[in-house]
Amino acid sequence: MGFKRVAVVPGDGIGIDVTAEAVKVIEACGDATGRKLEMTHYDYGAEKYLATGISMPAGGYEDLAQYDAIFMGAFGDPRIPDMKHAADILLGTRFVLDLYVNYRPVVLYDERLCPLKGVRAGDIDIAIFRENTEGLYVGVGGIFKKNTPDEIAVQEDVNTRKGVQRIIEYAFEFAAKNDRKKVCMSDKSNVLTYGHDLWQRVFKEVGARYPQIQTTHMYVDALSMQMIKDPRAFDVIVTCNMFGDIITDIGAQLQGGLGMAASANVNPQGAAMFEPVHGSAPKYAGKDVANPFGAVLTVQLMYQHLQMKEEADLVENAVKTAVRENQTTHDLGGSLGTRAVGDYLAKVVRSSS
Ligand code: NAD
Ligand code: IPM
Ligand code: MN
Repeated sequence: MGFKRVAVVPGDGIGIDVTAEAVKVIEACGDATGRKLEMTHYDYGAEKYLATGISMPAGGYEDLAQYDAIFMGAFGDPRIPDMKHAADILLGTRFVLDLYVNYRPVVLYDERLCPLKGVRAGDIDIAIFRENTEGLYVGVGGIFKKNTPDEIAVQEDVNTRKGVQRIIEYAFEFAAKNDRKKVCMSDKSNVLTYGHDLWQRVFKEVGARYPQIQTTHMYVDALSMQMIKDPRAFDVIVTCNMFGDIITDIGAQLQGGLGMAASANVNPQGAAMFEPVHGSAPKYAGKDVANPFGAVLTVQLMYQHLQMKEEADLVENAVKTAVRENQTTHDLGGSLGTRAVGDYLAKVVRSSS
């Protein structure tokens, strides 16, 4: 009988490749500590959708919600240009299970991985909290007079007081619990004068309850610039769904690229889903070249959530060791394939317990 139960959904493209290595690392952790996760694999993804027309079966979300954690790879396939299956599986899981916190840490492990000059390991340690259940992602809108010169396409940006408040509160609580000094809220309230005015007001209200934490604000265009100019200046960032999507790709590059970035999708009172920030990168699919670190560092976040600190530390230490010893894929300057990196990480985990 497993210690905790995890649903594993590798998905498409390199999601399959990196998930296989993440699973190896989970198994190694189980051997190292004796606390084994019970993993159940699901084949949701492009192949299943193309073969059956089913992206997520009836009751599928509720089934996933029964697990202590859900681990996903990536979704996206050039044969399904409208991303219908990915929207159902990935966004559907976020929405239906109300996983309103998207936590995407940006941590630099080695200065060689950062494209910026003069930035050292440890200099960048940013906790980004992306609202994950509303904004431009809700799919409210429509197309009128499609394919005519008079066509109108409308996509609404939905911001609710409850939705804005709970993510901002979560960011402040995280800061308070983790001895973080600053929370920066990023919006575009100079233009989005209704939706982001709400963000402004709620941020001031919630921030007033945390006098020990410094509150700052940046418009998202200036913040994007500042993340490149001096990423050391950031501590905790909280922002809306769409801006969070974009700035976490910038953050990923600061830590070595999309192959390095991890994320957690959490409902603090309910389910949690873990996935690397990157997508299915079809051109690398099945070629043994994708960097599995982002998926493996996502396993670290999953262990933190499951309150398995020893395992979380084993995973992070293994990635740090691999980076230090240059046991990496080509995107990080190494010469190993995806599987060889996974084998190396599993070996480090087993030998460091
Ligand atoms: P992507 O993240 O798949 O890849 C962009 C580029 O980043 C790749 O071409 C590659 O150069 C690099 N990259 C990404 N992950 C890497 C890794 N692990 N190792 C090495 N290099 C890596 O983004 P995209 O090309 O915009 O999207 C491809 C598909 O994935 C699309 O269908 C998109 O909608 C989907 N997508 C899914 C998710 C998800 O499931 N969470 C996230 C982003 C994009
Ligand atoms: C991400 C991805 C998704 C998003 C896509 C694939 C729907 O880019 O998780 O960052 O926009 O949230
Ligand atoms: Mn993204």
